Amino acid sequence: MKYNIALIPGDGIGPEVIRETVKVLNTVGETFGHQFEFEEVLVGGCAYDATGHPLPQSSLEVCKRSDAVLLGAVGGNKWDTLPGNLRPEAALLGLREALGLYGNLRPAVLHQALKNACPLKPEIVGGGIDICVVRELIGGIYFGERGRRKDGKMGEEAFDTEAYSVGEVERIGRLAFEMALKRDKKVTSVDKANVLESSRLWRSVMLEVAKDYPEVTLEHMYVDNAAMQLVRNPNQFDVIVTTNMFGDILSDEASMITGSIGMLPSASLGEGSFGLYEPIHGSAPDIAGQDKANPIATILSTAMMLRISFDLEAEAKAIEDAVTSVLEKGYRTIDIMGNEVKIVGTTEMGSLIQEAIKR
Ligand code: IPM
Ligand code: MG
Repeated sequence: MKYNIALIPGDGIGPEVIRETVKVLNTVGETFGHQFEFEEVLVGGCAYDATGHPLPQSSLEVCKRSDAVLLGAVGGNKWDTLPGNLRPEAALLGLREALGLYGNLRPAVLHQALKNACPLKPEIVGGGIDICVVRELIGGIYFGERGRRKDGKMGEEAFDTEAYSVGEVERIGRLAFEMALKRDKKVTSVDKANVLESSRLWRSVMLEVAKDYPEVTLEHMYVDNAAMQLVRNPNQFDVIVTTNMFGDILSDEASMITGSIGMLPSASLGEGSFGLYEPIHGSAPDIAGQDKANPIATILSTAMMLRISFDLEAEAKAIEDAVTSVLEKGYRTIDIMGNEVKIVGTTEMGSLIQEAIKR
């Protein structure tokens, strides 16, 4: 089979982690007899520098035509002073919206080989951490009405609006319940229903969706409590479903308790099999181009791509097993370094994983 993948290397460490990932994908292609065609496009700060806009129409067109999109990272302090609509982050939001990617899966898994990287006490973590955050991605306060007015209570005022419709909550709810069916069959819906009207609607829709999934347990939790419970007892969670902004915050927290943000992949999905896959980490401009970045999060994101968008389970598993075996042999990039490990750079880590797939 032939698969068309739009590649967005982006800014900072993006290009180098994408380069290693392409290496790995090509090896998967050779080993399993698939053809992966890559089309590289400019999105982010680099696109702004080249064209004056962080998300050029031509880049968007290539993404829309592709079977899946693979993204490194966008952004950097170089573009921090641009107006909001021209910042690299705006390109990311524009891409998610234009591609209809309403559901963001962010699995937070503690790899056994990296137990020591976890900042929580061993008695709290027990056998490991395995949580999947399902974040609504193209609604809520990120996309609600916003603006400024001169006549605020105490001078000029700025506002952003959190709004959710029944249909928006329902589709993200279904995605979460479907995920739970494949996992431990528990969904925790996180909201702030003791204060926010939008959360009360969110909660009532979740209860409705739950009726179609009698095998799944639904529980509700306020976001402040959820932030606390994530460090107090992370193993009570299986799937967490929540709004765009709460999901942004809680997924960073969930990734931190695994101790290795450089390891965590993500998938952004809409209707159908199309998806955008990217590491959770950012563009880390401070280490860009120094062969220090960990390519594993991007490599694991392609495993998600193979599994979810292309239905290639064995190939996805081959990548995940290769990553595990390289970690078990003690190889580490500096972000996940512990005692007595073999430190390698971005390129060598990519090559080690590539070799492990061949075997
Ligand atoms: C993320 C990031 C983005 C977000 C930023 C870069 C716009 O933090 O993907 O979590 O807030 O969604
Ligand atoms: Mg974030």
